Amino acid sequence: MEKLVINGGKRLFGKVEISGAKNAAVAILPAAIMASSSISVIDNIPDIEDVQCLERIMEHLGCKIIRQANSVTIDSTSINSVNANTDDVRNMRASYYLIGALLGRFKKAKVDLPGGCPIGVRPIDQHIKGFEALGAKVTIEHGAAIVTAEKLVGANVYFDVVSVGATINVMLAAALAEGTTILENVAKEPHVVDVANFLNTMGANIKGAGTDIIRIVGVSELKGCNYSVIPDQIEAGTYMIAAAACGGEVTVTNIIPKHMESISAKLIEVGVEVVENEDSLTIISDRNLKAVNVKTLPYPGFPTDIQQPMSTLLCIANGRSIINESIWESRFKHVDELKKMGAVVKVEGRTAIIDGVEKLTGAVIRATDLRAGAAMIIAGLVAEGTTEVHCIEHIDRGYPNIEDKFKLLGADIRRVKVEEC
Ligand code: EPU
Repeated sequence: MEKLVINGGKRLFGKVEISGAKNAAVAILPAAIMASSSISVIDNIPDIEDVQCLERIMEHLGCKIIRQANSVTIDSTSINSVNANTDDVRNMRASYYLIGALLGRFKKAKVDLPGGCPIGVRPIDQHIKGFEALGAKVTIEHGAAIVTAEKLVGANVYFDVVSVGATINVMLAAALAEGTTILENVAKEPHVVDVANFLNTMGANIKGAGTDIIRIVGVSELKGCNYSVIPDQIEAGTYMIAAAACGGEVTVTNIIPKHMESISAKLIEVGVEVVENEDSLTIISDRNLKAVNVKTLPYPGFPTDIQQPMSTLLCIANGRSIINESIWESRFKHVDELKKMGAVVKVEGRTAIIDGVEKLTGAVIRATDLRAGAAMIIAGLVAEGTTEVHCIEHIDRGYPNIEDKFKLLGADIRRVKVEEC
């Protein structure tokens, strides 16, 4: 076990290079399973625990995987099992993409139900609805989803809720179905578009990703390909918010500014200067921050995954901010930790009412989930004195080299071994 020890109060200056998008990578890796010939070489894969977890699962299924720096080579022609039943499968969220990928290629899959961050009930009913519409039979037995089909046939699916996971999972299976599938009320996140682009590079025929309707004309085979994952919108947003909270001037590089619009707009409203360049953004902050209201929404709205870091920033903004979390019902577990540092926050259901304070003070706190962990680091960076962030294995699931990246910006942060979380 490890913890982060942060001596707060330093302004941040310099450049931070953003890695490949976690939530794209964790869908693209399982999608690579669908290649029945040729190998795939995927670049800009972030070096995070969720990716390593998926690589182990895919090796367990018989894939050959070689990792070199940020590039992963996958030979999925050697797969010899459709039964994903290891601890890794149960511990992470994105393992559910194995269902769509295996179902598409082999017309059968047995995948243990996924875990992931404790941020609310995380049903997969919309995934199942989509698989069944394509002709699959789905049962849940002994903690696993068992999905089989004689053949998959294109269908119309109208999702009852906008779901990133269901959109991608059903798109995977439909790519290898017979005929045309129309998916409506789909998620439009950049990583949904990235997975569609990856599948099309493999030979799929998918149009409309990034809009409300995706049209998929099934093909009989997908082949391995070369691909590069898009930059991580949420990692970039995390560093932007850290810069805004600490004060200073930070440039996030290797990003797509268009993906950052909802976050940039909110930071400008807070009183921060955001300068847009071709593939970077510069945040200039004098720490004179104004309270704002935030409502999380599916893309292109303000992302739920950046809500927790944003809440730390609002703890030190002048006035009262109100955050409404519309995606997950329990994504405020980090608030109790912020209160230990002097934050004044009241949570009522899906709403957090934050009365800004002049300063936070260092404390021993813990990461209750991945993005809560990012929020805790930002709190430690702005706080007076020393903060210890425990349970950082949550953070390592989704942020590559986080303390090294902050150190390069001038933060006083170090990783230390501990006996237990
Ligand atoms: N939902 C259903 N039924 C379903 C699927 C979802 O009711 O079958 C509901 C959920 O309960 C939730 C809403 O729909 O209220 C949205 O869930 P979604 O399916 O979009 O979430 P997800 O696919 O499980 C992904 C990201 C999350 C991110 C959400 C929303 C991955 C691996 N995870 O989760 O990322 O919060 O989309 O954008 O892509 C994170 O990175 O920290 C993280 C939690």
